[in-house]
Amino acid sequence: MKLFDVYPINDIVIEKALGSNVWDDKGTQYLDMYGGHAVISIGHTHPHYVKRLTEQLGKVGFYSNSVKIPLQVQLAEKLGQVSGKTDYQLFLCNSGAEANENALKLASFHNGKKKVIAFKKAFHGRTSLAVAVTDNPKIVAPVNETDNVVFLPWEDEAALEQAFQQYEVSSVIIEGIQGVGGINVASDSFLRKIRTLCDTHNAAFIADSVQCGYGRSGKFYSHDWAGINADIYTMAKGMGNGFPIGAISISPKFQASYGLLGTTFGGNHLACAAALAVLEVIEQDGLIANAEKIGNYLMEQLKSLPKIKEVRGRGLMIGIELPEELSHVRKNLLAKHKIFTGEAKPNVIRLLPSLALTQEHADQFLSALKEELA
Ligand SMILES: Cc1ncc(COP(=O)(O)O)c(C=O)c1O
Repeated sequence: MKLFDVYPINDIVIEKALGSNVWDDKGTQYLDMYGGHAVISIGHTHPHYVKRLTEQLGKVGFYSNSVKIPLQVQLAEKLGQVSGKTDYQLFLCNSGAEANENALKLASFHNGKKKVIAFKKAFHGRTSLAVAVTDNPKIVAPVNETDNVVFLPWEDEAALEQAFQQYEVSSVIIEGIQGVGGINVASDSFLRKIRTLCDTHNAAFIADSVQCGYGRSGKFYSHDWAGINADIYTMAKGMGNGFPIGAISISPKFQASYGLLGTTFGGNHLACAAALAVLEVIEQDGLIANAEKIGNYLMEQLKSLPKIKEVRGRGLMIGIELPEELSHVRKNLLAKHKIFTGEAKPNVIRLLPSLALTQEHADQFLSALKEELA
């Protein structure tokens, strides 16, 4: 049997990882400024994380949602506390797409409406409704096409107002910082406008925090920068530091009922142990503040470099837009300097490192980039 060949991959085998470094099978050390696509939140193989997961595995790894799972209750309490949304309710699933799928569905169950507003360049996942609100026709199969989704230009308040006049809107879904779309930060005023219109028209505000959430921006949810509360926050990536887990944090205005949502694997013992370990480390090591501090440092330094077209982002979610003629830089960072970064087409280097990134790591990246720009 062969693998279904859908990923353009680097010819590298990673065998060991620690903090913000990984090593290949030949012993070469790399700096991980990509965090396995924003997944590694607390750093690779963090000792507390390894211990908690190993201990849990020795007790019970999985049982279904037909029994009490106290770890879920502990996780809900901890997440409520660390995210500052103590009165919200938690539904656990397994991935970002699933989180968005459940959020969109829950909004529609709640207000009985169908239309969803999404934005140009949005990425929300690959399952049926998540991909339908994703602005990339190449990954939308004919079976996923629907009239229920309206795409609006990014940051266009007039278009947003008009859409609310024209349609019976069930929900608005927005990344606080667009990731795949090229690191575009939603302005505070735009997020506030969405909040106001959702309130006026009984629509749900869904804050996709799968990539920009979990402390990455320097606040728990990047939407927090606007001083608003969304109705549903979706999360995944950083939540389990590599263990697959996703979730939605649901405002108290939504009423649960048996069977409304469900999953086999979501909220299993191991996943909860991983997510608890992550939150404990985020809290104990002050990683949200670190993301803001090191992120600010990186952004400041990057803005002083020549040839860069634009630097965008917040905290440790940074996009470096390069001119066309420097499209080789990202490849060289990996091949010559042994530094992993992400990309957004056509020419944006995406930094999504662990929230525990140190200033030394940041400097290592900056000096490699400087060399390439020169
Ligand atoms: C903003 C955003 N939402 C949703 C998803 C989908 O998450 P997953 O790949 O876990 O389904 C992603 C993945 O990149 C994402 O960046």
